[in-house]
Amino acid sequence: MNTTYTPVDTERTVLYVSNSPDQDLTRFLAASGWQAVHAKSTAIAERMIERGNIKVGLVELPSDCTSRHLSALASCMRRVETNWVAQIAPGQSENELVSRFILDYCFDFVTRPWLNERLVFALGHAHGLSSLRHPPVAPEPSLGQHGMVGQCEAMQQLYRRIDKCGVTEAPVFVAGESGTGKELTARAIHERSPRAGRAFVAINCAAIPPSLLQAELFGHERGAFTGALQRKIGRIESANEGTLFLDEIGDMPHECQAVLLRFLQEGTIERLGGSGSINVDVRVISATHVDLDKAVEDGRFRADLYHRLCVLRLVEPPLRERGGDIKLLANYALSMYRQDGARKLRGLSSDAIVAMSNYSWPGNVRELINCVRRAVVMSEGRFITASDLGLPEADNGPAVTLAEIRSKAEKDAIEHALQRHGYKLSEAAAELGISRATLYRLMHANRLHQEPAAGRASSANGGTDADEEAERQAPSLV
Ligand SMILES: Nc1ncnc2c1ncn2[C@@H]1O[C@H](COP(=O)(O)OP(=O)(O)O)[C@@H](O)[C@H]1O
Ligand SMILES: [Mg+2]
Repeated sequence: MNTTYTPVDTERTVLYVSNSPDQDLTRFLAASGWQAVHAKSTAIAERMIERGNIKVGLVELPSDCTSRHLSALASCMRRVETNWVAQIAPGQSENELVSRFILDYCFDFVTRPWLNERLVFALGHAHGLSSLRHPPVAPEPSLGQHGMVGQCEAMQQLYRRIDKCGVTEAPVFVAGESGTGKELTARAIHERSPRAGRAFVAINCAAIPPSLLQAELFGHERGAFTGALQRKIGRIESANEGTLFLDEIGDMPHECQAVLLRFLQEGTIERLGGSGSINVDVRVISATHVDLDKAVEDGRFRADLYHRLCVLRLVEPPLRERGGDIKLLANYALSMYRQDGARKLRGLSSDAIVAMSNYSWPGNVRELINCVRRAVVMSEGRFITASDLGLPEADNGPAVTLAEIRSKAEKDAIEHALQRHGYKLSEAAAELGISRATLYRLMHANRLHQEPAAGRASSANGGTDADEEAERQAPSLV
């Protein structure tokens, strides 16, 4: 029997984990065309799995196995590349620990006596299905250089604009629905600016009672008002030399707007109850989910403050317009919270992805992350299914025609293929089963670019409706 760790020819190889290997079993497997590689401990098995591409494992559960034993086995059986077949003694499946273990970690099980066709069938089946997985396993999505997950055209456009905002000192206003990543955008701008490394101070104007907001922003001297027992430095002052992020600025009370405007015009602040003005060097980024233009029209927001804040304007795309990013974000959320689940989760089922793509996500990325997190805890199988997500079945959005569905599917498929092949047109075209010229034509028709944002200086043809909207509305746009 082979007991070394060197990677073996993985075709028809089975990793046999048992602390007392059965020689008859090994001979029987060899006669049936299987090479058994023995690991007498879980640590050895783990190393073998790491080194070689092991498709099938055979694990013998001792008749007196404890939950400690099972969790040691589970830790080496977590990897998705290997399908496991368990060997158990008659009656052992009635032990709840054992049956739960098999359900969670094994592809199949055989009961003693096991030197028979049933074992060969189970191994063959496990091997066959494991071979369908595409090696290497796709890397888990991670936060890109802007601290966000997302590769769709609308996000690429946002990244380019963030980069441009980073090199200037002008105030930036970030518009977008709740949960779309406005704060992440503000941080990304700060990180790209010469102020990176200095303070990034965020304040949520909607979360602080209106009567306290001014003191929170500007600070106060001792005795400035009842309860002001000592001097307090305000958020603006503590952001000196750095960036101040005024979140939910649309909810700022009128009197506070007036004081903020004075600060933006003069670059000085006065603490409440203080007697002199203090110079503060702060770059301001603001955001809100409310329609600020409408708030100005209705007289709820000062027009002069609006113009001071919205020198540059960015618009966060809502999640429902991000196409394949929904899947990327869901996998990202899964990778963050995978450990919260009681059992080994292999991923999201395709019906879960479809359900997520059809849902309109009023709470955007925040809602999607919470939804996946909840499903990780509540799911009972090895994949998160649509029903684990608990999303409403049909969302009563506007009716879509078949032509619209087709063209959206076409655009998504092209975009995904381009991303998967690093924007190599020939490879993406081959995967899609079309010629390079056809791909080029379809990309043009769908306003898709030939390379990701980093390689492009401007967006000649690109841009979503949201971008165009932004271009029209922005007082001055980067
Ligand atoms: N593109 C993204 N990639 C990864 N996480 C994101 C992304 N967009 C938003 N999030 C996460 O979603 C939540 C809401 O983001 P946030 O910036 O607070 O949104 P907003 O300020 O627009 O309400 C945060 O937990 C944030 O980390
Ligand atoms: Mg926010």
